[in-house]
Amino acid sequence: MTAKRIDGKAIAAAIREEIREEVAQLKQQTGRTPGLAVILVGDDPASHVYVRQKAKACEKAGIHSVTDHLPADISQEALLEKVAYYNDHPDFHGLLVQLPLPDHLDANAVIDAIHPAKDVDCFHPYNVGLLTIGRPRFKPATPAGIVELLKRSGISPAGKHVVILGRSNIVGKPLANLLVQKHPDANAIVTVLHSAAKELPPFTRQADILVAAIGRPEYVPGDWIKPGAVVIDVGVNRVPADNEKGYRLVGDVKFDEAVEVASYITPVPGGVGPMTIAMLLRNTLTAFRLQVMQG
Ligand code: GUN
Repeated sequence: MTAKRIDGKAIAAAIREEIREEVAQLKQQTGRTPGLAVILVGDDPASHVYVRQKAKACEKAGIHSVTDHLPADISQEALLEKVAYYNDHPDFHGLLVQLPLPDHLDANAVIDAIHPAKDVDCFHPYNVGLLTIGRPRFKPATPAGIVELLKRSGISPAGKHVVILGRSNIVGKPLANLLVQKHPDANAIVTVLHSAAKELPPFTRQADILVAAIGRPEYVPGDWIKPGAVVIDVGVNRVPADNEKGYRLVGDVKFDEAVEVASYITPVPGGVGPMTIAMLLRNTLTAFRLQVMQG
């Protein structure tokens, strides 16, 4: 069996086009333009790439955006002042601080300082709480992107065993929270695996849908996957390569092996990654509606 590739790039492009049309409508309706502020601290190369992609996607969708690039040695106080500035700025309906932050900064305190109504990452404890009790206002971008990818590929997680490798606050935990909800796009039986598991394959081989989100290049071999399973690879790992950039991107899954076992698989790049940005745009419109149309 050769797995069908899930084309995240094409699905994300379709969603972004829907969002572009929605933005045009909202502008007509309200006379206002949805806006997103992105705070980037320091010089992490991958973060720079992500932030550029976010700004470009906003521009194409008709969303006004600003990237505030702050020096790596900025103080916690000065960063919190920036957050407060955008919290109070009426033209920016969404606000995110790109992670990771340099070690001397307290990321939790920064996330706590973001106004919950502008928290388009859905990282604030208030929004995480709403998600957990099944009343999501925002949905975190990468987990929401995965749910949307499954939906638009005709794969229902309802009643299926979804095994998630990784318990991060950005992917593993919120994805489990989304998929376990009693909702037609979810309703899954969810297992979250992490480093305390003595062995992983006895669990991964039970997965109808296997999600790899551990950030280890090509960690999951083909024989950890049940034949016919759906494989969602969230990993974006840079490995050295003999090319112009000096690296290439690989996922957390050994693609060449997995593609022979799975029924569907997401490639890296071009799978989950583009969906994250599409969902961020969607959250920005949710924030706009919250502040402009219900405020
Ligand atoms: N770093 C990696 N993923 C993300 C994300 O979704 N949002 C932010 N703010 N930082 C990230």
